[in-house]
Amino acid sequence: MVAPMMSDAAFPRPPLAAWLPGTDRAGRFSALKFAAFLAALGPGAALVWFWSQGELAPKPITAAIHFSGDWALRMLALTLAVTPLRVVTRVNRLILIRRTLGLSALAYGLLHVALYCVEQRLDLWTVVSEIALRFYLTIGFVALAGLIALGATSNEAAVRRLGATGWNRLHALVYPIALVSLFHYFLQSKNDVTPAVLWSGYVLLLLGHRLLARRRRGASALALVGLAVAAGLATGLVEAAWYFGRSRIAPLDVLAGNLDFEIELRPPWIVFGAGLALAGLAALFNRLSPARSRGR
Ligand code: HEM
Repeated sequence: MVAPMMSDAAFPRPPLAAWLPGTDRAGRFSALKFAAFLAALGPGAALVWFWSQGELAPKPITAAIHFSGDWALRMLALTLAVTPLRVVTRVNRLILIRRTLGLSALAYGLLHVALYCVEQRLDLWTVVSEIALRFYLTIGFVALAGLIALGATSNEAAVRRLGATGWNRLHALVYPIALVSLFHYFLQSKNDVTPAVLWSGYVLLLLGHRLLARRRRGASALALVGLAVAAGLATGLVEAAWYFGRSRIAPLDVLAGNLDFEIELRPPWIVFGAGLALAGLAALFNRLSPARSRGR
């Protein structure tokens, strides 16, 4: 699962070592990739630890389903964040960790569903019928099927088979898959959709960056400040639209709730802050190397 951007050049057959975690395409050890691999294992290790310490009581399987679902989505968002960070910092080596993050999104997604099967006492008929009958599970299944398709083609052999253009087109599906996963998140939320709104905001920010990068403005600090404002506003609108669609709550009331700072800092502000941080990073790196800021 690697986001698009590959040229139509010929791809040499990679050595067997390139399949190992922590190695680059040429099969050489990469400390960056290995660190990303270890970091991706972190939440899984934490889950085992919490479980063994009884911290997931009284319903450990349900808690683990939520934990793994959260991390599947976070890894997916982190995968989408690699290219914006690479464009802003011009640290091209970051590309090495994209596949690791994408595959870990798939791994946490598979764990999430495996735990759901365990919760259903491994009664596969119940699992299948629940997925077919409950809309939020059907949506989750669509997202998982997409992740599996991308994961199965996240290798050099698939790039050779599909050709760079076909492969790029297939892997551009990572964005709709992220949106479908977010919809699943919203649908399963009970009363409070705050975390789902926050992650939607991050994904909107990253999608917005993709649009800017297409116009070669992905490293412009000014354009990124504009993006921060737009993503923050869009996050507030997503929340207002959700509450209006679900409970007919007046959108202006929901939007106004974001201005009450005494309760908590609401997602639109957090997303705005994340966008500003990206703009600040761009300004810093453009300053370090002024020639880079031209035309980006
Ligand atoms: C066949 C596929 C899937 C099934 C059967 C499934 C099932 C579930 C279930 C049962 C819940 C908990 C609902 C509740 O307690 O009311 C849940 C929550 C969740 N799922 Fe899935 N899911 C699937 C795919 C996915 C995928 C692909 C992702 C992300 C990439 C995902 C992310 C989440 C998230 C973020 C939550 C909410 C966690 C939280 O509340 O902290 N799910 N899912």
